[in-house]
Amino acid sequence: MICEINALATYPVRHPVLRAGKPLETCRFDGDDDAKTVHFGYYEHGRLLGVASLFAVPNHEFEYPAQLQLRGMAVLPDAQKKGIGEQLVRHAEDFAHQRHYKLIWFNAREVAVGFYQKLGYSVWGGPFAIAGIGTHFMMFKKLRG
Ligand SMILES: CC(C)(COP(=O)(O)OP(=O)(O)OC[C@H]1O[C@@H](n2cnc3c(N)ncnc32)[C@H](O)[C@@H]1OP(=O)(O)O)[C@@H](O)C(=O)NCCC(=O)NCCS
Repeated sequence: MICEINALATYPVRHPVLRAGKPLETCRFDGDDDAKTVHFGYYEHGRLLGVASLFAVPNHEFEYPAQLQLRGMAVLPDAQKKGIGEQLVRHAEDFAHQRHYKLIWFNAREVAVGFYQKLGYSVWGGPFAIAGIGTHFMMFKKLRG
């Protein structure tokens, strides 16, 4: 089951998956509590297994007025490769489509590029480093009609 959660509720997944070994406060993203930001949690038997967030942040690389940035995409290690990440991305896309957004973009970790490509996302430009995290690629997808 996927439902909307608040930013703090994402930390039990964000922390071990995206900020392992770092202080808990590094789980906080700029804009986490903005009115237009939305966080999704995937629950199974009451346990939070995966999270994803959408921020109303346009990227000027793309000439689209209605864009969302996907961030904080993470699935607990023992729940990975079971389709949960895909369900979270599809859910985020449906949410965006219903609200007339036209494009989703994000900065993908190098190891996750193949995951997003399977879901129809394309790489934009070359690799770049994000301090303390590693090599990333900008990726995007134009949403249907
Ligand atoms: C990347 C991540 C979100 C994917 O979630 P997941 O639940 O494991 O992925 P799914 O099971 O939904 O995978 C969907 C498809 O992508 C494939 N896939 C999953 N992770 C992949 C990866 N890292 N590289 C290439 N393909 C991948 C799966 O094999 C599956 O393919 P299939 O349909 O042909 O079987 C998850 O592995 C994760 O949290 N990783 C660590 C944190 C991270 O890198 N987050 C992304 C930051 S940008």
